[in-house]
Amino acid sequence: MNKIVIINGPNLNLLGVRETSVYGDRDFQSYFETLRSRYPAVDLMYFQSNHEGAIIDKIHEVGFSAAGIVLNAGAYTHTSLAIADAIAAVTAPVIEVHISNVYARESFRHHSYLAKNCKGVICGFGLDGYRLALESLLGQ
Ligand code: DQA
Repeated sequence: MNKIVIINGPNLNLLGVRETSVYGDRDFQSYFETLRSRYPAVDLMYFQSNHEGAIIDKIHEVGFSAAGIVLNAGAYTHTSLAIADAIAAVTAPVIEVHISNVYARESFRHHSYLAKNCKGVICGFGLDGYRLALESLLGQ
C-alpha cells in the first residue's frame, strides 16, 4: 500500500478557526477524514506540529519509506533552511502546499526556502491543494 504522509506546520492546527477569510472555515481533521475515505487504497497519514525540529524529525522518520510527503510548513516555508535541508536529505518526493495564494499576499510570503528541494509547489486552491498534491504523488 502506498504510504503518503501529510505534514502541517505551525498554526495549521487552528484551521477552521484561524483567519477564516484566508484559510476557510473547515478544520483539517475533518478534511483529512474525507480525503482518507476518498483514497481507501492509500495508507494516508497526518502529522501536525508547531515546532521546527519536530517537523524535521518527522521528515527523517518517514522520508525513506513513504511514497511521498505533502508538506505545508506554514511560515517556516519562508524562514527554514533546516527544513529545506531535511527535504533534500530524504528520498521521498515532497510536494509543498499552501492553502492560500501566497503570491497574492505580503511579499515576505513570496519566497520559499523549501521549493527548490520539492518536486513541485501547489498554492491558492484552498484545502483542495492537498488532494491535488496527493493525486500527483499517486500518479507518478
Ligand atoms: C500558508 C501560507 C504561509 O505564508 C503562512 O505562514 C501559513 C499558511 C498557507 O497554507 O497558505 O501559515 O502556508
